Amino acid sequence: MIEPHGGHLVNRIPCEEDRLALLEKAAMFPAITLTPWNLSDLYLIAIGAFSPLTGFMNQTDYQNVLTKMRLANGTIWSLPITLSVSNEVRDQISFSPTICLKGNDGEIYGLMEVEDIYETNKREEAHAVYGTNDPTHPGVQKTYEQQAFNLGGPITLLQHPKALQENFQTPAELRESFQQRGWKTIVGFQTRNPIHRAHEYLQKTALETVDGLLIHPLVGETKKDDISADIRMKSYHTLLENYYPADRVILSVFPAAMRYAGPREAVFHSIVRKNFGCTHFIVGRDHAGVGDFYNTFAAQNIFNQFAKDEIGIEIMAFEHAFYCEQCASMATSKTCPHDSECHLHLSGTKVREMLKNGQRPPKEFSRPEVIDILINEVQQHDSEET
Ligand code: ADX
Repeated sequence: MIEPHGGHLVNRIPCEEDRLALLEKAAMFPAITLTPWNLSDLYLIAIGAFSPLTGFMNQTDYQNVLTKMRLANGTIWSLPITLSVSNEVRDQISFSPTICLKGNDGEIYGLMEVEDIYETNKREEAHAVYGTNDPTHPGVQKTYEQQAFNLGGPITLLQHPKALQENFQTPAELRESFQQRGWKTIVGFQTRNPIHRAHEYLQKTALETVDGLLIHPLVGETKKDDISADIRMKSYHTLLENYYPADRVILSVFPAAMRYAGPREAVFHSIVRKNFGCTHFIVGRDHAGVGDFYNTFAAQNIFNQFAKDEIGIEIMAFEHAFYCEQCASMATSKTCPHDSECHLHLSGTKVREMLKNGQRPPKEFSRPEVIDILINEVQQHDSEET
């Protein structure tokens, strides 16, 4: 099995006896309310998906990540994982080294040992992570919405978030599944879209050279106009039933928030998939991009900055894939000799646009079974709105 990032898989979930005891004590500590994004970070830290992180970042790690894409100890890490609070909340909790972490449903989800309280550096953070200070970028917008201070320190998980049960496996569970299937090489595929023909082409091309494929759709917070995780899950199931070999593919959800940080998020996505046990990771065109903020292959080129053994997972980089009418198949500029007029360019954004305009995307674009699901959902949504 591939080594987790930083050497070992973090586990911040106490044994059942300790968990119950801590849960009883937790109400005595001052509490803060987590956003759904914070809650997902808490959970992903606790189960080791964000190994080697054991909690929300302190100032030294935060600054190092912004300026060097590394934690203070030199380990590669590309995105800040922080917990911000307002000035008032900071005053309320400053007397206690331990705080209780609640969800917006009032439930207790964890504890945190607060080791550091520091000012959020929003402009610097946005620029470092997203490469822009443009507030129309959804990640920049999120950064600017943060509170004035960050709390840093290790966490303990006391309760699993409720929404996550179906089709979810922790890094330890997925690693176990891979082992049971005898897979030695596994390619991870990140997506926030229904799978279209270009995605399928990338996945199946990769699968020709590895033992197994992990389809690992991101199902945490996404921007409003992305297709909801529920609908996407239906489309993934249909696709898998009809077009994928069951013994070579696992579908499991990745409950992280989407940052839209392009290149930096590609680094983050690959490292996290390594923690889930993948040996390979697909990075196609404009991975984790949004609008025109990033160059088409910036998310691939960023990996040139790092030694291969530091990243520790093999990046499978793909050219822009399209359907070629002359080839009558999917292709890329590496494999197709025909004029660009014969090329049908596909993207999640295009699928969403066509659906919005009442157009049925052609079968070269997306499998008909997937289109049926998407059209059905759009129609239902429209009839609920009128
Ligand atoms: S992402 O935000 O999760 O990256 P998306 O779900 O569209 O968005 O993409 C999933 C993966 O497929 C990414 O690695 C992306 O680069 C890749 N990809 C999407 N469309 C294409 C395409 N037409 N050609 C090559 N790669 C693509």
